[in-house]
Amino acid sequence: MEPQKLIFTAQPGEALTREIERIAPDNLFVLCDTHTRALSLPLVAESLPPSTRYIDIEAGDTHKTLEALAHVWDELSRHGASRKSLLVNLGGGMVTDLGGFAAACFKRGIRFINMPTTLLGAVDAAVGGKTGVNFNGLKNEIGAFRPADTVIISTRFFHTLPHEELLSGYAEMLKHALIDSPDSYRALLDFDLAAPDWDRLLRLLEESVQVKQRIVAQDPLETGIRKALNLGHTVGHAFESLSHRRGTPIPHGYAVAWGLVCELLLSHHYLRFPSDLITGLAQYIYRHYGAFAITCKDYETLYELMTHDKKNEAGHINFTLLQAIGHPVIDQHADKEEIFVAFDLYRDLFKL
Ligand code: GLY
Repeated sequence: MEPQKLIFTAQPGEALTREIERIAPDNLFVLCDTHTRALSLPLVAESLPPSTRYIDIEAGDTHKTLEALAHVWDELSRHGASRKSLLVNLGGGMVTDLGGFAAACFKRGIRFINMPTTLLGAVDAAVGGKTGVNFNGLKNEIGAFRPADTVIISTRFFHTLPHEELLSGYAEMLKHALIDSPDSYRALLDFDLAAPDWDRLLRLLEESVQVKQRIVAQDPLETGIRKALNLGHTVGHAFESLSHRRGTPIPHGYAVAWGLVCELLLSHHYLRFPSDLITGLAQYIYRHYGAFAITCKDYETLYELMTHDKKNEAGHINFTLLQAIGHPVIDQHADKEEIFVAFDLYRDLFKL
């Protein structure tokens, strides 16, 4: 798979104009959802040629469906899209996942540019070629690996994001830093997320996305080292699913933040990851994200949810654990008792 071109910029409109000129499509389509049409499109609208066609879908993960996908294909088809056409996906992970998949299949593949408008989208979904839609109640059940031609990343889109959205993306940046190096991890803990310096965030984001880009370049189809990017997600997804069952959904990145702490506790047990670093991270996460409340009555349910994770292989719950910051170890297994001990310790750290 070709490596994606990544552009980090304070002027997303100019970058978009240059990329459109470089690709020289016969037709240009821009996919937005109802939020990004109102809040993000105005930041780049003047950079788009008058002949641009706009395709709108409803916002929110519940609309990442086959119906929305068919609507995009229908619009492309009715307005004469060919193999030489270009789709620009302007939105969060929902838009870049769905738009990427629409482009991957239309006439067996047309080119697309991702312009993530959320921090979570920029640091994760828009980069690395995973595209898809939800199906039969399962997230990302239908999809394809197909990288965007270019990903244009700008913190300009983030100024209007709720603080919760920023925090959600920041958890994935923390994950990348833990996989990468002590220096990048410390730089993130020092950054003031309450009053963001957007230029500094763009630089930190660039470092963070490069971590993912380097790993994906080695293993685009996730047969090996790409699984390192699942750090925090085995427990994180179980927390997220439990919150949905309770009818009080938590944002994805929050679940990852709490999942990281639990998985570092397992890393300490199995790989001697230093415990002082876990305490430090737990304090940081507690201060910024609060706590996800669990009691011992939830342990069996959480375990059961983890056994259904699609990352599992051969009947084992699959974890990525850390030996040290910068040293991920993939394909790790943990005993049920040790997972429950990790939940006990998590509750101590988060005063639950
Ligand atoms: N979200 C992790 C990955 O793209 O592999």
